[in-house]
Amino acid sequence: MSAPTTIALIIGSLRKESINRKFAEYIVSQMPDSIKVEEVNIADLPLYNQDYDDTTINSYERVRQQLKAADAVLIVTPEHNRTMPAALKNVIDIASRPYKESVWAHKKVAVVTASPSNYGGINSGLDVRKSMEMLLAQIMTSPEMFLSQATESLNEDGSVSERTQKYLERFINALVAFVGSKSA
Ligand SMILES: Cc1cc2nc3c(=O)[nH]c(=O)nc-3n(C[C@H](O)[C@H](O)[C@H](O)COP(=O)(O)O)c2cc1C
Repeated sequence: MSAPTTIALIIGSLRKESINRKFAEYIVSQMPDSIKVEEVNIADLPLYNQDYDDTTINSYERVRQQLKAADAVLIVTPEHNRTMPAALKNVIDIASRPYKESVWAHKKVAVVTASPSNYGGINSGLDVRKSMEMLLAQIMTSPEMFLSQATESLNEDGSVSERTQKYLERFINALVAFVGSKSA
């Protein structure tokens, strides 16, 4: 039997009650059995410093290996002060180095942002794309997914509302096709 396709999941929020985590969990729950999703823990990563390129930091090695081994990366993230959260930028930087050992080149990457605001965290999503373009990742371009007024898309128990489940369907189908295809 062939190995399952794997998606490494990065959630840009570190907080326990993250709304982005709730949307990520729903998207993961809709993946077929042929796709295995593994979360990349970014909470324990020391702030990237180029001086560390010559040393071994276990948490850096862990995320680099996890991302390298994955067939694709799904990033679900809030927006902090009109850009991506520092913790997300940190893991992007860590996995882009040492020089010429970046894990991002040709990596399939899909991005979702969610925010209680009307703008859906779009600035964060576009900034992630900007970094990914520079790093030569293969970005899933359609459909874009910036979930606005996202707290209203969650039921009281934290589950995703039926309306938003429907809205996410096209993204989820596109993600499965994107991850499953050899090139997109
Ligand atoms: C430091 C900080 C900066 C924020 N800046 C923005 C922002 O620029 N745009 C926005 O839509 N929401 C902003 N927010 C609000 C977040 O969208 C909101 O807290 C959201 O719930 C965070 O996602 P999470 O629940 O997944 O952690 C900010 C929140 C924090 C803590």
